[in-house]
Amino acid sequence: MIYAANPKSVFLKNKLEIKKLFENVLDSGSYILGEEVKKFENNFAKYCNVKHGVAVGNATDAIEICLRALELKKGDKVLTVSHTAVATISAIVSAGLSPKFIDISEIDFNMDINLVEKNITKDVKAIILVHLYGQSCDISKIKKIAKRKSITLIEDCSQAHGAMYKNKIVGGFGDFGVFSFYPTKNLATLGDAGFITTNNDKFFRKILKLREYGWNKERISELHGKNSRMDEIHAAILNIQLKNLDKNNDIRRKIANYYNESFKSIDMVTPTNNSFSKHVYHQYVIQLENRDELKIFLEKNKIYPGIHYQTPAHQMKAYKKFYKNKLPVTNSMKKRILSLPIHSGLKKKDAELVIKNVKKFFNKKR
Ligand SMILES: Cc1ncc(COP(=O)(O)O)c(C=O)c1O
Repeated sequence: MIYAANPKSVFLKNKLEIKKLFENVLDSGSYILGEEVKKFENNFAKYCNVKHGVAVGNATDAIEICLRALELKKGDKVLTVSHTAVATISAIVSAGLSPKFIDISEIDFNMDINLVEKNITKDVKAIILVHLYGQSCDISKIKKIAKRKSITLIEDCSQAHGAMYKNKIVGGFGDFGVFSFYPTKNLATLGDAGFITTNNDKFFRKILKLREYGWNKERISELHGKNSRMDEIHAAILNIQLKNLDKNNDIRRKIANYYNESFKSIDMVTPTNNSFSKHVYHQYVIQLENRDELKIFLEKNKIYPGIHYQTPAHQMKAYKKFYKNKLPVTNSMKKRILSLPIHSGLKKKDAELVIKNVKKFFNKKR
């Protein structure tokens, strides 16, 4: 069985260290927002080259908290894409705001930067960029527009830990960066956890309150906050896994290069790697006409690819009402995309089997 993602195979590489930390946390007597969390906040903020890091319960909360910190009016709009994890959209709506969807680029699946400026109407107060599949958006262009229009910029880096834009790690370009550490992510824990990065002191202080009931130091709620704290167990695991992040991203890049080379002779579109971006291949997404046939063929051979995403948010019942702009690329992509297995626990022989079977499928078709 070869899965699109396999967190167990990644965690088992550090089995002894992880087992030991459970004992350490148990003995420490501190289980939420303790020393391990503080250490991780410092470590990961440093890794992302930002001033502040705040550990939270998950990335959906992280986005909601950033948006709440802006104190916008109910119904104000947030410019983003529909071709993302639905979490991005769920968070916008949970913050009392409305997503304004724009289309993606056919080249890299990220927000089409040519559509940004013309869609910034008066009611658009923030932009959420999603560095989808592990590849950064063309940030500087969008950042310039956001600055000129005085709009908040949030980078959703949930699929892009360690990815770079022009040799600088993502997460520090906007007003906020958010990260997910869900088990399948490039940097992950054995459960839910998330993170916010910011260089803004005022926002930092506000976010600290918003993640814990709006409390001040005396535990008096000064704001209406949430309970979105990180557990010590997760922080301790993340402190270990952070040390392996670059190495694990290298493994993903190696697999992607191997796939790219092997698929050159086949009539399907392999992922573009933009020159301004250092890709971390959270997903390796190919495009082809007969996607469903290939998926069934691979599954028959015990290879289980994924589809990210089968239904874009604007076509889901919960978010249909926000479908205003035409989204031709988003609408057509969903039928063509397939995420092949890629993760840092994937063995060379498994990648070889994936290649062999994809080639077999194409040879049969000829
Ligand atoms: C782009 C993106 N944003 C947000 C999230 C939400 O992350 P979490 O599951 O930690 O809330 C995810 C996770 O799937 C994601 O991929």
